[in-house]
Amino acid sequence: MSTLAITTAREVFDLLREDLAAVERELGRDAVSGVSTITEIAEYLREGGGKRIRPTLLLLAARSLGYERAGMIRLGAVVELVHTATLVHDDIIDAADMRRGRPSTNTTWGNETCVLAGDWLYMQAFRTALEERNFKILDLLIGLTQQMVEGELLQIEKLGRFIDEAEYYDLIYRKTACLFSVSMQLGACLADADPIQEDALAQYGRAIGLAFQIVDDVLDLTATEEELGKPVASDLREGKTTLAVIHALAHGTGEEQAALRQVLTDGGFRSVTPEDVQRILRRTGSVEYALAAAGRYAEQAREALSILDDSEYKRALMSLPDLVVERNH
Ligand code: IPE
Ligand code: IPE
Ligand code: MG
Ligand code: MG
Repeated sequence: MSTLAITTAREVFDLLREDLAAVERELGRDAVSGVSTITEIAEYLREGGGKRIRPTLLLLAARSLGYERAGMIRLGAVVELVHTATLVHDDIIDAADMRRGRPSTNTTWGNETCVLAGDWLYMQAFRTALEERNFKILDLLIGLTQQMVEGELLQIEKLGRFIDEAEYYDLIYRKTACLFSVSMQLGACLADADPIQEDALAQYGRAIGLAFQIVDDVLDLTATEEELGKPVASDLREGKTTLAVIHALAHGTGEEQAALRQVLTDGGFRSVTPEDVQRILRRTGSVEYALAAAGRYAEQAREALSILDDSEYKRALMSLPDLVVERNH
């Protein structure tokens, strides 16, 4: 076995090439309904691509503990289906018109149809998970779905309002890191991990998930529309306060704070432009602040892996936190 470090996303992908191809085939089978509208929507979402980071985590968790049977392919598809269902509902809630560089499903099919398509995808995920005949797996998925729904609901309640760091972390745990954590736990569960191993992998998932969402929120403020596949500063437009903005609201001048609050209450860029916001964040060092926090979670994720024996899968898991923090889309 090679002891070389795995340092690029391409190398992680190459390591899992066959598994991920099998997950795609499973997703293809899972996207079929007796009602053609649902099949069309599920196919449209599947073709839209996406990074497939959640199945990647699940596969690496299972394989790092020596598991190599078909359950990980099915559950890899399950976590991607849950993710897809949350995106369909999220785009309705956020009235988003772009996703993955294409019109979002709600733009094409309308909200009513997409609420139901999202429900169908959730249930398809549970149907596929049921094939494992394992209550622990269902328990994890039910807890996860409730956390995610609660996260979206809390976010709605806080829209347009200032939130503090504790509220921010609670939200991003529920809406993003929890699914990363459960993806790792499902992999551990398939491999009959002991509680210490399962807990370590869950901690890894939580930490990399928090880093992932912090970076996602920074990119929303700093990347281009082309990189994002959706308009720049969508979060502020939607009234969402994210980590860099929380920092700038605490460290900006009175005028800068007023400008940021204006965008949040307006729910758009009327008197203040996205460039104004970027200038404020640069001056207050808020982007660096948020990226430093993401870097600490990346480090925490790597530390959680100390209980794993060395393998190329462990090395891939070791490299993912940095890839997540350094990504530009
Ligand atoms: C988007 O997740 C939703 C968030 C949790 C920020 P991803 O960035 O993993 O989306 P895709 O699947 O790659 O499009
Ligand atoms: C992502 O939330 C969807 C969920 C994790 C449920 P956001 O609304 O913050 O992310 P994007 O920007 O639409 O992907
Ligand atoms: Mg959204
Ligand atoms: Mg949202």
